[in-house]
Amino acid sequence: MSNKTVTLTDNATGKTAEFPVREGTHGSPAIDIRSLPPETGYFTYDPGFASTASCSSDIAFINGDEGTLLYRGYPIEQLAEQSSFLEVSYLLLHGELPRKNELEAFEDSITNHTMVNESLKNFFHGFHYDAHPMAMLTGVVGSLSAFYHDTIDIHDPDNRMLSAHRIIAKMPTIAALAFKHIMGEPFVYPQNRLSYCGNLLNMLFARPTEEFQINPVAERALDQLLILHADHEQNASTSTVRLAGSTGTNPFAAISSGCAALWGPAHGGANEAVLNMLHEVGDVKNVPRYIEKAKDKNDPFRLMGFGHRVYKNYDPRATVIRKTCHDVLDELGMGDDPQLELAMRLEEIALADDYFVERKLYPNVDFYSGIIYRALGIPSEFFTVLFALGRTPGWIAQWMEMISDSEQRIGRPRQIYTGASKRNYMPLHRRG
Ligand code: SDX
Repeated sequence: MSNKTVTLTDNATGKTAEFPVREGTHGSPAIDIRSLPPETGYFTYDPGFASTASCSSDIAFINGDEGTLLYRGYPIEQLAEQSSFLEVSYLLLHGELPRKNELEAFEDSITNHTMVNESLKNFFHGFHYDAHPMAMLTGVVGSLSAFYHDTIDIHDPDNRMLSAHRIIAKMPTIAALAFKHIMGEPFVYPQNRLSYCGNLLNMLFARPTEEFQINPVAERALDQLLILHADHEQNASTSTVRLAGSTGTNPFAAISSGCAALWGPAHGGANEAVLNMLHEVGDVKNVPRYIEKAKDKNDPFRLMGFGHRVYKNYDPRATVIRKTCHDVLDELGMGDDPQLELAMRLEEIALADDYFVERKLYPNVDFYSGIIYRALGIPSEFFTVLFALGRTPGWIAQWMEMISDSEQRIGRPRQIYTGASKRNYMPLHRRG
């Protein structure tokens, strides 16, 4: 806590009030306004919470101006290059990189929690084959709260950690069940002999008719993509998980609310929306026209995968993914992929256009990720499921931090009321 303060003066009355300043390890200081209403009678107004810190957190830090992202202090570029998704998951949960024995124990625990209760598969038979996979994921992840009555004490740290292991382990299985349902193919059980991403690829693409060969390029690319999506401060879906969790609800129900929030095209649904946008633009020769559409306030078209509430520079994840995109497509013999060419041309023209430069709109994590997913044989409506899979350790780590934070209370924002003044009920016969 800083000893700095900020003084607010009400110009109508000349009254002043002093508020403490909170400073963190990095980033802007914040005015602690918890005493604002009782001291001044005022609330603050901040739709979208663009100027509001909802909590203090040790987990992730974004410097939007520099375009940097840290997970527990480690730069995302170093983790993407040198770590693994399960090691990063451990880091997010525990705050430190694991020793060899700790990592092995964590990987073993995750591996042995990948199966779901056999009855969970029945839920998929209730969905039509054309159900969106995010609809299925949101529903079935929430149904996990109907199981595991052995870990419902959210104030028991061991219960919380076991719930965290379970959700990290079971998300790929549930994701793959949704995929197989859409494809009309038999479900594939997890295989303990495989890596986290090898197991995911096998559950997605293996068929009873032939031996499935896991492509190591795909396995490594997927692991890196999951690392890059693992956490991101108080984004919309993480804030949703925290708000839902603040009521004391079941952790799987809170994660399900995060899936629901992530699905939106302004958030995690943007990766699917980028591929749909590239399909709509169709050809490089149409790029200038679509750039103009994106700038036209009267046109609903937006350059999906561009812009960010916090990054006012290149999203560091996009930088890594852009490079991986080229490496993976080259290694898969798809280096001349027309959609990659189109995306690069779109980026090149946008970044030279004053509209995007003035508004500091740069490619974000979603701009290139879908191109890799598609190259790995994953359909676009499934991209956000993979985003959810990657974000799960971040969601559950933030939920754990919120539950054990003594300053946290049930989330309950206020409002400015603009409706009708108080009035009396008018009986029907007198309403004319
Ligand atoms: C993710 O929060 C997170 O951390 C999210 C995320 C994570 O890891 O959790 O990083 C993941 O959600 C990335 C963002 C994915 N969404 C998209 O790519 C959708 C396209 N982007 C936009 O919808 C938008 O940029 C947002 C939602 C990402 C940010 O919206 P803001 O912060 O509310 O910004 P804004 O809408 O107020 O835009 C500021 C200006 C506006 O123009 P003016 O009114 O100032 O003239 O920029 C314009 C906007 O019209 N603008 C765009 C644009 N994004 C913003 N114009 C054209 N195309 C765009 N993509």
